[in-house]
Amino acid sequence: MNLEIPSPELCRQLEMLRNELRHHAYRYHLLDDPEIPDAAYDRLFRQLVELESRFPELITPDSPTQLVGAPPLAAFAAVAHGVPMLSLDNAFSMTDVEEFDRRVREGLGKISEMQYMAEPKVDGLAISLVYRHGVLVRVATRGDGRVGEEVTAQAGTLAGLPREIVGENMPTLLEVRAEVYMPLSAFAAYNEQARARGERTFANPRNAAAGSLRQIDARITAQRSLTLFCHGLGLVEGGFLPETRHALLDHLAAWGFPVCPERRVVTGVAGCLEFHAELLARRDRLDYEIDGVVYKVDAREDCERLGTLTRTPRWAVAHKFPGREALTRVRAIEIQVGRTGALTPVARLEPVVVGGVTITNATLHNFQELQRKDVRPGDQVSVRRAGDVIPEVVGVVEQGRMRPEVLACPTHCPVCQAPVIQLVGETIARCSGELSCPAQRREGIRHFASRRALDIEGLGEKLVDALLQSDMIATVADLYALTEKRQELISLERMGEKSADNLLQAIAASKNHGLDRFLFALGIREVGEATARNLASHFKTLDNLENANLEELEGVPDVGPKVAARVHGFFRAPGNQEILARLKSASSTWQTWAGTPAGLLRPLEGQTVVLTGTLATMGRTQARARLEALGAKVSGSVSRRTDFVVAGADPGSKLTKAREFGVAVLTEAEFLEKIQATQGGFQS
Ligand code: IVH
Repeated sequence: MNLEIPSPELCRQLEMLRNELRHHAYRYHLLDDPEIPDAAYDRLFRQLVELESRFPELITPDSPTQLVGAPPLAAFAAVAHGVPMLSLDNAFSMTDVEEFDRRVREGLGKISEMQYMAEPKVDGLAISLVYRHGVLVRVATRGDGRVGEEVTAQAGTLAGLPREIVGENMPTLLEVRAEVYMPLSAFAAYNEQARARGERTFANPRNAAAGSLRQIDARITAQRSLTLFCHGLGLVEGGFLPETRHALLDHLAAWGFPVCPERRVVTGVAGCLEFHAELLARRDRLDYEIDGVVYKVDAREDCERLGTLTRTPRWAVAHKFPGREALTRVRAIEIQVGRTGALTPVARLEPVVVGGVTITNATLHNFQELQRKDVRPGDQVSVRRAGDVIPEVVGVVEQGRMRPEVLACPTHCPVCQAPVIQLVGETIARCSGELSCPAQRREGIRHFASRRALDIEGLGEKLVDALLQSDMIATVADLYALTEKRQELISLERMGEKSADNLLQAIAASKNHGLDRFLFALGIREVGEATARNLASHFKTLDNLENANLEELEGVPDVGPKVAARVHGFFRAPGNQEILARLKSASSTWQTWAGTPAGLLRPLEGQTVVLTGTLATMGRTQARARLEALGAKVSGSVSRRTDFVVAGADPGSKLTKAREFGVAVLTEAEFLEKIQATQGGFQS
């Protein structure tokens, strides 16, 4: 019995909260353009749930807690779902998961531990796929859960969606529920292109998926690389239904539906939490955005007995991950000058934790985007950080009180004062100072030394600055003359004999990379790792490449006129020629394509591997040699950048570390299989 009496103020607060939630739901579901991070929405939602549970008499049927999603857009035909498309209850902590498990067991009168189907909660949009006699007849969005929008034509463009299914025990009517998503790689590519055209970008992959599927013109959807994972059923008539969810998913996969491979039956709360931790650690390695994991009671009969509430089933819960977005305030906006002279406005932020990492800077990409988003110091903004990608400002949530003018693109480089140029049709403004600009020089050297280029360990930002400022180096070629300046090196701040020698050793080791890595390290515009490899394997030697004319350059796979012109121009720029001549005398290894002699492919090129424990079939040295022959770098310690760990008998703390970081761990058998498979890489 509730003895609290709601005050008029509380009633007003409730209504305001509901209106705020409605506004955000409208932006999210209908406009595909949310203003606040999901976590902020969840917090408001929980506030409402909490208030309504204290005052159940104040719950209204149209409260956001009683509804799912938003009513469909009139532009699409309305489709009534045979079985409502529900939402999921959220769990944010271990206690919430324990509570869910307790409710489930209580509901079923079970003492023994439950079996749950655990799977990722893919951050896309829910759709319903209806098949009659195995033929796809209708696709609809969730809408408000009862009525959705018909998107059959648009869904026809989804990669992997079966139009027709064949197999045993096919129901006459089969409704499959799925999540449509845009792979992260496609999302990044889309935004990059949109940015280059000065167009609006999508705030996150979910909006990208929703905004792309809900296009009236299906031809636009077709260009957006959407795909899907199927995770359940709706209405089914005439045919067999598996007894468990895991059998159902296996069955769907056998019928040809894309089903997420990251799924597993787990036991009890402990099993759920273990799955959650594992997936959280691996989240950044998946090519789709997940915002948590879902636990569903595995046995169909148990689910039926548990039933559903108005908007959520009792048999499932979504255990959320920390959000990728957070709210913070902009302290200042500054301009960074990159390796290619690109001027990037960067927001300096009040520190905020996003997905477990504190961030203080976020990119605003370019001045056009800065203007469009209208971000100014003092504003409250939403920032997003996903994986290795640089954190970015998604948009302004609330304008600050004092709003200084929005920062305009400067006419001169803030570092070297050279004029800034912006080519017609380009969104990027650049400093024209080239290598006379200290910022470009510094970034060029950092790129040259970076892990995927010539991998000079220890040559970080501060050291590059110190070397430049003390005039010990001016260009990358000077790095190879540092051996004669050992004493000077040692006298640098925070540099001892040991670190100086380590640096010199790392510089010496960088001479052992082949032409492909060297070309990438040079930082020629438009030449990324893949192009560098193509150029190296095509021309075989640096001399051949330097002497190639435009036509010959365009003969290389993936090299068009633009890239060819860049490469051609690079080798002919007088300043570059001098640096190249000095580099050439530093190492001959750089000047030839390492893959040539034996026709050897290096399938593990660029990967870092760690060995731990004792291997039964070979010693450590032998294992290291085999890995290195395949192009891998064998490291002594595990970091987030480790690609995989090979664990033999009695593995040490490296295994624990690998688990913690979500780094893949291979058993000896798996390792042998991998090197055997990759050794197929020797060309005959
Ligand atoms: S099961 C009865 N499984 O999350 C609810 N949903 O908040 C059935 N979602 O509408 C949903 N991945 O769009 C389920 N593995 C998964 C999911 C998943 C993403 C979405 C789905 C649903 C929303 C619920």
